Amino acid sequence: MIGFDEKKQIFKIDTPNSSYVMGIVGGEYLAHLYYGQRIEVNDLGYLLDFPEEDLINASVGNGEKVSFMDRLPHEYPCHGTGDFRQSCLKVRGPQGNWGVDLRYAGYEIVSGKPELDGLPATFGDDGETLAITLRDDCLVLKVKLLYSVFPGIDCVMRSVSVENQGTDMLYLEEVLSACLNVGEGDCEALSLTGSWARERHITRQKVDVGVQLIESARGISSHQHHPFYALVSEHAGQESGEVYGMHFVYSGSFQGIVEKSQHGSHRMVMGIHPQDFCWQLKSGESFQAPEVVLVYSGTGLDAMTRNLHELYREHLLPRKWVYQKRPVLINNWEATYFDFDQDKLLAIAKEAAGHGIEMLVMDDGWFGRRDSDNSSLGDWKVNEEKLRGGLKKLVDGVNALGMKFGIWFEPEMISPDSEVYRAHPDWALRLPGREPAQSRNQLVMDLSRPEVREYVYESVAGILRSANISYVKWDMNRPLTDVGSSYLPADRQGELMHRHTLAVYELQGRLCREFPDLLLENCASGGARFDPGMLYYSPQIWCSDDTDAIERLAIQEGTQLLYPLSVIGAHVSDCPNHVLGRSVPFETRAVVAMAGTFGYELDITKISEEERAAIPAQVKRYQAYAPLIQQGDYYRIASYQDNHYYDCYQVVSKDKKTSILMFVQVLAQVNRPSRTIRLKGLAIDRDYQIDGKVYSGEALMKAGLVMKRPHGDFRGEIIEISMFSR
Ligand code: DGJ
Repeated sequence: MIGFDEKKQIFKIDTPNSSYVMGIVGGEYLAHLYYGQRIEVNDLGYLLDFPEEDLINASVGNGEKVSFMDRLPHEYPCHGTGDFRQSCLKVRGPQGNWGVDLRYAGYEIVSGKPELDGLPATFGDDGETLAITLRDDCLVLKVKLLYSVFPGIDCVMRSVSVENQGTDMLYLEEVLSACLNVGEGDCEALSLTGSWARERHITRQKVDVGVQLIESARGISSHQHHPFYALVSEHAGQESGEVYGMHFVYSGSFQGIVEKSQHGSHRMVMGIHPQDFCWQLKSGESFQAPEVVLVYSGTGLDAMTRNLHELYREHLLPRKWVYQKRPVLINNWEATYFDFDQDKLLAIAKEAAGHGIEMLVMDDGWFGRRDSDNSSLGDWKVNEEKLRGGLKKLVDGVNALGMKFGIWFEPEMISPDSEVYRAHPDWALRLPGREPAQSRNQLVMDLSRPEVREYVYESVAGILRSANISYVKWDMNRPLTDVGSSYLPADRQGELMHRHTLAVYELQGRLCREFPDLLLENCASGGARFDPGMLYYSPQIWCSDDTDAIERLAIQEGTQLLYPLSVIGAHVSDCPNHVLGRSVPFETRAVVAMAGTFGYELDITKISEEERAAIPAQVKRYQAYAPLIQQGDYYRIASYQDNHYYDCYQVVSKDKKTSILMFVQVLAQVNRPSRTIRLKGLAIDRDYQIDGKVYSGEALMKAGLVMKRPHGDFRGEIIEISMFSR
């Protein structure tokens, strides 16, 4: 899969349908030569013979060095020595100036994939890795570029480490994880954008000369932008066009840039946001930048999606959970908010257990004096006025009903009105001499302090040790501001943002090791930290605080573009919806919540008898389809965001024997003939049964299935498709 042609000085990485090619120019510079449809023969040596007049020939010598540097498609471009396009590496040297000039120094191809120190990353023994070493002899800096592939998946995983091999102190002011040079042509930049309760809407913009960027400087991957950027050919669709994607396996501040140069070629870069970042690298120390997943599809977005789904299922999600059925849960947040006690929770649990629900999750408000969002974060002691008899008694009571128990934490936070803050005001991030800005009445813990990390860990672990708790919802409800630490010295303050993310990884990793059976669900004001980094620790992430089923269609479509359905936290909530005020039929809410980890977020003791009576069948249906939803291939059929009338996607089992079609008619249309929907992913030479009728797979995929026209707005249905043998 990975090879080096010594004679031609060409590296070639092959995946089933793509090839990634680099070459060494003039024995010194590592250049990107090609990424695209798989090329069988390694005859790309001619790409290194740049015509003399292009000024990217190494033989032009120093007289035109700047033109050479600014035109060469550097594989890992650096700041300060002539490449004026977006760079990946900016280093401040001992004299206080900037400039890196990396030269090729060697390579190694190994089987497997090395772990990245302290960072989440894809894994698998069946992988293969190319490590290319570059050096700057002036700074005495070694840079290692890693490229890994796994069999059967069209992705290339990249990361970078930087090592100070000299004696002087160096300051890393920018270490992005990957650069991709793509040729000319009309392209669009595709990203996922949004806001609170409006996360991950698919957004496309034409790329023009200049730069476009996506970013988060909030210390979390954010509601606003997602750490994913794709350069797609103009009008690329689900099954047509070229797609070059970069997905960052990181949960903190990030930056992704698409640049169209003066000559019309494109460059994409992705990595930790350089703003507020400066990492001190002492002699002998290394810095490891997080992983970027590169994905290429020559056949549109569908293929990109399925490759990423497969990669994350097989090589990123916690092994224990990836294909394990998750409990159907009921969460009390929208049911009670802070106003609950033991009796209320047990009443909800009792009713839920009687209707087939498998786990009660106690959300925010069980600790300290937390009767609203203005106190007690950090005081992780059970409020025994609310939970009389203590937590264990409640958990035992829920367990006695045959249900599992889950609990909410927001470990990274501290309320100014808390015992812990009064005792340790220096445990919060703050800038000297300034009152730190609160958000939701809370401050952020300074996780660079070892004693704070220990306190946070023991607070969570202590509660988990005290009762039979099966699940934790790890929430995070504000961005990082006032990023200052009274612990770190002045010249290490630029490490604080990244150190916060590393600490979250350390804490969650430790928790998963001590409690190997724990089901961890991440959450951040809904989906503000929904990213591949968090998925490494938690097999599911709460998708959005917007639980309106219709609003969820666009949010879930954007999320499904990159993530397998099994990781998407989706619940049926009460109506009128708490964030939007809209009412949608109960069945439609359940159909939409099937696109993920199904659950309920309502007071089951208070909904109508008719709705309550529908729950057991909904739960059973989810349980029956759960293996298909977790393991099957996902196909987007229609997007409500695009057509404004209906939404439709399909999941097909790997053996193509079963499939489900999720259809939501958002707006009914008068005098409109029935829709014909072309199915995807079936066996072309087999028959299928739908509602008692038999069709050929070929007809369903080419001519389509005629849908019965549901009456009214907001109607959701699930259609089962099974292979039929005559
Ligand atoms: C934000 C989360 O997204 C909600 O689900 C809920 O857990 C609240 N925080 C609790 O404060």
